[in-house]
Amino acid sequence: SMMGKGNHRHFMLKEIHEQPAVIGDTLHTYLSPATRSVTLPALPFDWAKVTRLTITACGTAYFAGMMAKYWFEKLARLPVEVEVASELRYREPPLPEGGVCIAISQSGETVDTLAALRYAKTQHQTILSVVNVPESAIARESHAVLPTIAGPEIGVASTKAFTTQLMVLLTMAVAAGRARRTLCSADEERLTRAMIEVPSQVNEVLNMDLAYKNIAEGILAKARDVLYLGRGLSFPIALEGALKLKEISYIHAEGYAGGEMKHGPIALIDEAVPVVVVAPADAIFDKIASNFEQVRARGGKLVLLSDEAGNDRLAHHAAAAAKLPTVDPMVAPILYSVSVQLLAYYTAVAKGTDVDQPRNLAKSVTVE
Ligand code: G6P
Repeated sequence: SMMGKGNHRHFMLKEIHEQPAVIGDTLHTYLSPATRSVTLPALPFDWAKVTRLTITACGTAYFAGMMAKYWFEKLARLPVEVEVASELRYREPPLPEGGVCIAISQSGETVDTLAALRYAKTQHQTILSVVNVPESAIARESHAVLPTIAGPEIGVASTKAFTTQLMVLLTMAVAAGRARRTLCSADEERLTRAMIEVPSQVNEVLNMDLAYKNIAEGILAKARDVLYLGRGLSFPIALEGALKLKEISYIHAEGYAGGEMKHGPIALIDEAVPVVVVAPADAIFDKIASNFEQVRARGGKLVLLSDEAGNDRLAHHAAAAAKLPTVDPMVAPILYSVSVQLLAYYTAVAKGTDVDQPRNLAKSVTVE
């Protein structure tokens, strides 16, 4: 039935299109647009005294955690471990005194994430959770909860929960940077200005959806394997892009750090393997541009996701390119997330799969 999907054909598409609104709602919960400053609720620890962050989650939420690692390291110079919950819970690593554990989960009920949280408690970590369901088990067992304001997410493949998780985690990294005096007020102001612009820039990405549909139908849906490359802040987005594609289109996809390409995946490159390059023109752009050239030299079919400067440099050598708004590199991953969601969505539609209920997958994994 079309009930609840509005004008959209699938919940996933509806949820993709809700992102400008829910990212805005989440942002305004933790950042005052008037003062342009991050104001988190009181937390039961002092960022300046945190010895280490351990971030844990499963699936897409894990990639939000990986993204957060880059932000916390860069903005707050905080040592961060990020680990899938199913590994953390059984490996039982020692966690240092004074550490904080962040559990990220849309449902708040994922069994491995809950078990990892309980393990972290045995190690005397302060538990902070980022959940979309505030009444959930993970929220209840945490010392503090910073909810995402995404609203109910029905599509099995996470979209708006992911980008709102990113927004919460970025506001946390800014708060941590301020408390640890690693982020000066000028940089904080520049960054919060950039964050406030994100909802309307996500809208700009959504307005380009025909470009993504064309790439999906013309290139990705015809492929048996797809590689996603990214470096730095774009690496977690490459991983998430590959996960989204395999989840809903059943096309084999791998995300790789650009620098690792010559250590394996380059052996797969030929005309039959599209390579999606996630590459805003940031500080590491020259490095990803050289990975782009390496793929091109081997006849690979390149799909470029970049901004104006990146398109000017590389689009003429790509089989297809999408142009995203030019933004602060710290917020770029949020916009590029939406691009990879659209690519996966339109590829799945072209393949005729059940987008909202992909085979073998569950919305929430509450048993091992
Ligand atoms: C399942 C869902 C994913 C989700 C993961 C973690 O695999 O299909 O979309 O990312 O669980 O779920 P959580 O509710 O903990 O975020």
